[in-house]
Amino acid sequence: MIGVFDSGVGGLTVLRSLVAELPAEQFVYLGDTARLPYGTKSAQTVVRYALQATEALAAFRLKCLVIACNTASAVALPAVGERIASVPVIGVIEPGAEAACAASSSGHIAVIATEGTVRGGAYQQAIRRRRPAAQVTAVPAPLLVALAEEGLCEGPIAEAVAHHYLDPLFATAGRIDTLVLGCTHFPMLGRAIRAAVGSGIGIVDSAQTTARHVRRALVQAGIAAAAGEGGVRLLATDAPQRFARIGARFLQRPIAPEEVQLIDL
Ligand code: DGL
Repeated sequence: MIGVFDSGVGGLTVLRSLVAELPAEQFVYLGDTARLPYGTKSAQTVVRYALQATEALAAFRLKCLVIACNTASAVALPAVGERIASVPVIGVIEPGAEAACAASSSGHIAVIATEGTVRGGAYQQAIRRRRPAAQVTAVPAPLLVALAEEGLCEGPIAEAVAHHYLDPLFATAGRIDTLVLGCTHFPMLGRAIRAAVGSGIGIVDSAQTTARHVRRALVQAGIAAAAGEGGVRLLATDAPQRFARIGARFLQRPIAPEEVQLIDL
């Protein structure tokens, strides 16, 4: 079983990519909908929540834990890794940073994320660790989270908000050639973001890059499921009906409310 956790429904973009990469695996996904959002909370609080989510998932026989939430990956990865040291723990920041470094020619990389992810500096550090001369500009884009949850992923409102965050970034920061979508919700707004930045900018979707990274890690460790039909089990800490309704768009398949098990942390 592969455990995946997020602050809510956003991480279903990561789960969707994981299922596409690893169709024979069994996944258990926990969305901490009772305490969403993580992106505006202090690092200390997010670490506490992430450890509680980890405890709940540790009850399953996990072979790997994926932190789908960028904010939790940014601040809680070491603490979660210590708590569950017997299995690999993979966050979304390192794979996203690696893909951004590979994609960028100019070395000027932009990251849009939540306030907490930007403040923690994890993307900036992960990129500079791989490419010390890189210039990284990270900005919070919180309205994009709300738009994705409202289902306003395309059209004039989504594009106007994408322009609101991205125009100043690209106007002032010169030679940016790569943009990292450093939040679970942003792949949902891919078209609006593409319309705002134009065709010349490379866009790194950290959900996809993480899924590829997880597949490589499982194969290297010799623990990838060889064949068979995989499955997904969904857990939420509040409002399973809302999780099912909104989550269906993120997972790109219908979710029956009965599929979502309510749990307390
Ligand atoms: N899952 C969060 C992230 O990727 C976005 C939503 C939230 O703020 O909780 O950072």
